[in-house]
Amino acid sequence: MKYFEKIRKNISYGLGLFRNLRIFIYDFYRFSKYSNNPLNCYERKQLQSKITISYHDLERGLSLKEPRPGFGVKAATELIRLLNFYFDKFGKDDLTDNVIDVLNEWISYNSNNNKCLSIFEGIRFELKEKCNESLTGGTVTYRDFKPEIHSFNYSAFVKSRFSLRNFGPERIPDEVIKKSVEISIYSPSACNRQPVKIHVLKNKSDIIELGKLQGGTNGFVESIDKLIIVTADLRTSIYYKERNQHYVDGGVFAMNLLLALHSLGVGAVILNWASDPKTDKQTYNLLGIPKRETIVVRIAVGSYPKNFKVPKSLKRKPDEILVWH
Ligand SMILES: Cc1cc2nc3c(=O)[nH]c(=O)nc-3n(C[C@H](O)[C@H](O)[C@H](O)COP(=O)(O)O)c2cc1C
Repeated sequence: MKYFEKIRKNISYGLGLFRNLRIFIYDFYRFSKYSNNPLNCYERKQLQSKITISYHDLERGLSLKEPRPGFGVKAATELIRLLNFYFDKFGKDDLTDNVIDVLNEWISYNSNNNKCLSIFEGIRFELKEKCNESLTGGTVTYRDFKPEIHSFNYSAFVKSRFSLRNFGPERIPDEVIKKSVEISIYSPSACNRQPVKIHVLKNKSDIIELGKLQGGTNGFVESIDKLIIVTADLRTSIYYKERNQHYVDGGVFAMNLLLALHSLGVGAVILNWASDPKTDKQTYNLLGIPKRETIVVRIAVGSYPKNFKVPKSLKRKPDEILVWH
């Protein structure tokens, strides 16, 4: 009997390995196809991401306490090459205006420190011609900064959020969802590449259909007013070490969105996206979400009913998770 039990466990382990492999191959295929690669690296979105990484190198260098005079020549050279290519192909836009501001500040910093290569001074005038004078890029200086200027009872606010799984009949206006997204846009993201997209399902039958495909909404799917799907665009991932980056960026955004909804008096519960290739494919087809976007999580939203119950949701103690090094 023990012998058969061992064989059974081995077979089930083998099947599990096979299933994992199939899913890893699916992830590998998607990442290789949509993230930056030699076949697509001059497409608009991929180019924007590369430009963002390069200009971010300069803006973050400028924001250090004592930037090294002359830093960033390699990044600036690559940035100008990409920018000129971008101008030729797509013209000017908010991104190029922003980049030119950063380049200007970087050139000025190096000029002021006698480290500017004359070639950059020349390029500065050339680029100025192509810019809308928006002054959206570069750094901002804070003096006598007092963090408490933003003070409100953040602790009480965060602690008062809970997952709601029983929504009331009142609808949530589209403007409120838009406002929550506008707040969450201030989320950090790797090199400020902002890969997140927000899809909002308003149609009850789509919400129910998706609930059937993915689950996690049993018992309350009918009461959901709107279902938000947080995705991250793989085209912003530049190379293999970033294979998980878009999930992290999506998660950071989703948490901010959850808190923004809470601040606007909207009930919400964040919902998993634990899918397989088949479910992903069915979802992309059902909702028309581009395949280059990875679904990170869903957030069900709705109003608070008059009376409801939620789990107490015991949280760990700080000392259980805090490890000092
Ligand atoms: C990534 C993630 C996936 C989740 N998936 C589901 C889900 O599918 N269905 C659900 O009812 N709750 C889901 N939740 C909500 C958790 O169950 C909930 O956050 C947790 O129990 C703690 O409760 P609280 O949000 O009230 O603090 C999910 C939460 C996270 C962060």
